[in-house]
Amino acid sequence: MKHSNFLLYLIIPLFFSCNIDTIQQKEIGIIPEPLFQELDKGVFIMDEKVLLVSDPKLSEVSDYFKTYFEENYQIEFDAQKGTKKIIFTINNAIPNEEGYELKIEEENIFIESKNARGAFYAVQSLIQLVPLPSDLNSYEIPCLRIKDQPQFTYRGMHLDVGRHFFSVDFIKKYIDLMARLKMNTFHWHLTEDQGWRIEIKKYPKLQEIAAYRKETLVGHYNDQPHQFDGKPYGGFYTQEEIKEVVAYALTRQVTIIPEIEMPGHSQAAIAAYPELGCSGKQVEVATKWGIFDEVYCPKESTFNFLEDVIDEVVALFPGKYIHIGGDEAPKTNWKNCEYCQKLIKKEGLKDEHGLQSYFITRMEKYINSKGRQIIGWDEILEGGLAPNATVMSWRGTKGAVQAAKEKHDVILTPGSHCYFDHYQSENENEPLAIGGFLPLEKVYHFNPIPEELTDKEATYVLGAQGNVWTEYMETEKQVEYMAYPRAVALSEVLWSSPKNKNYQDFIHRLEQYQKRLD
Ligand code: ACM
Ligand code: ZN
Repeated sequence: MKHSNFLLYLIIPLFFSCNIDTIQQKEIGIIPEPLFQELDKGVFIMDEKVLLVSDPKLSEVSDYFKTYFEENYQIEFDAQKGTKKIIFTINNAIPNEEGYELKIEEENIFIESKNARGAFYAVQSLIQLVPLPSDLNSYEIPCLRIKDQPQFTYRGMHLDVGRHFFSVDFIKKYIDLMARLKMNTFHWHLTEDQGWRIEIKKYPKLQEIAAYRKETLVGHYNDQPHQFDGKPYGGFYTQEEIKEVVAYALTRQVTIIPEIEMPGHSQAAIAAYPELGCSGKQVEVATKWGIFDEVYCPKESTFNFLEDVIDEVVALFPGKYIHIGGDEAPKTNWKNCEYCQKLIKKEGLKDEHGLQSYFITRMEKYINSKGRQIIGWDEILEGGLAPNATVMSWRGTKGAVQAAKEKHDVILTPGSHCYFDHYQSENENEPLAIGGFLPLEKVYHFNPIPEELTDKEATYVLGAQGNVWTEYMETEKQVEYMAYPRAVALSEVLWSSPKNKNYQDFIHRLEQYQKRLD
C-alpha cells in the first residue's frame, strides 16, 4: 500500500468515529511498518474482561501476551468476566512462515498465523497499538486489519561480550528489545583476544585464565602513549546461564548464533593454553584493542581442542549455525612457523591464505558432521570458500557479491551501514567511540541487496545484522545508547517492504516508540 493512501485510512475514520478521536494518528504507527494495514471504525478496549482463546500450538504466545499485560499494565485477564475474545488460530493458508493476520474488532481480536513465530509477531504489533501504561483505567486500541510478513528471513543483532562483559539479565533484555522489533537472530560474539566468555568444561583454564585480563586500555587506542587502568577485568557465562539465555530467546522466537573465533582473535585462549599457538610462548590475555599476531597453529592438537569446544557449543545452542569468525587473522606467525610451512607443502596449498582456507574448511567439515552449518566473516573467501559456508560481509559488500555469485548464502553487515559502534551524531558531547559516522537516517536507507547482484543472485541474501563491538562500551547503558535507535531503523530495513518505507513517517513513529523504550 502506498503511503499517501495509508494516511487516508488513518485520517478519514477519525471524522466518523466518536470513540477514536482520542487516538492520535501517529500513535498507531507500528515499527517495523507492516506490509498492509487498514483502519476500521471503533475501538477494542483492553481490560480484564478479555478472554484469551488459543490453539494449543500457540498457547506459549498467548501466555506471553497475558504475562506482558500483567507485568506492564497490572491488568489480569479474568476468564470469569470475559466478554471479549482474543483468538489465536493456526492458518496454513498464510504464505509466509513468519507472517500473520491481525484483525481487531470491537468485541474480538483475531490473530492468524502458520505457527508460533507469526503469532508472536502479531502480538508485537498488537502491543504497540495499546497506549503506554498510565493511570488510565481503559486502554483503547483502534479497530483495524493488518496482513504482514517480512522482507528478509535473517534479521539480526550482534553483541561483542569479549571486549566488555555483560550480565545475563542484560543479554536477556537485549534479546527482548530486538524481538519486539521482529528481529529473529542474536549473534553472540563469545570469544576474543581480550576475554573468553563461554564455560567449556573440558578446558578449565579457559575459565581460570582466558576469561580475565589484568587491566584495560584507558581512552582511545589512537591516544599515545597507551595508559591502562590497572584493574583486573573479566567474567564468563556458565553453561547453565547459557541454557537459560537460549531458553529465554526461544520464547521470543530468537535463535542465537554463538561465535567461536578462529584462527585469529584467539589470544585469550592461547594465554590459557600456549601450545595452541605457533611458538608455544606464554602470552597474556590482551589488555588493549586491535589485531594480534597470536593465532591458532593448525596442529592436530589444536584441531582436537577446537573440536572439543565445538562439541560443548553445539550441545548448548540448538540453532542451525555456528559462527567460526575467520576475520583479521595475521599470517605472520604462520609464515615463521616450521610446522605451518611444512603443512602448506604437504597439503599442496598456495600460501598462508590457502592455509586459512584449509583451517576453515576442516572445521566446517567437523561442524557439518554435527548437523550444523558455519558462518564466517568475509575473510573466509580468501584462498577459497569452504563448501557450505554462509558469508557475513563486513568489509563493505564485495564479499557478499562474490559469495552470492558463488551461490553461497550471505548476510550483510557492512561497516558503512551496520556498525553501531560508530558515532551516531556529530554532537560534541557524543561519548567516545571507535570512530566512523553512521547516523540513523543512513541506517534507515540501507538496502541489503547489493546492486551488482541479479535477481537470482539476490536470493542468496538472507538479510542483515547490526554489529555492536564493545571496545568503547564499558556499560550496559552505553551499549543501549549505541544500539538504539539505530536497531529500530534496521528492523524496518529488514522487515518492511521498500515501498512502504518513508523516513519522515518513521521519525514520527519513532518518537512514540522511544517512549515505549523508556
Ligand atoms: C570485524 O569487524 N572484525 C568482523
Ligand atoms: Zn604454526
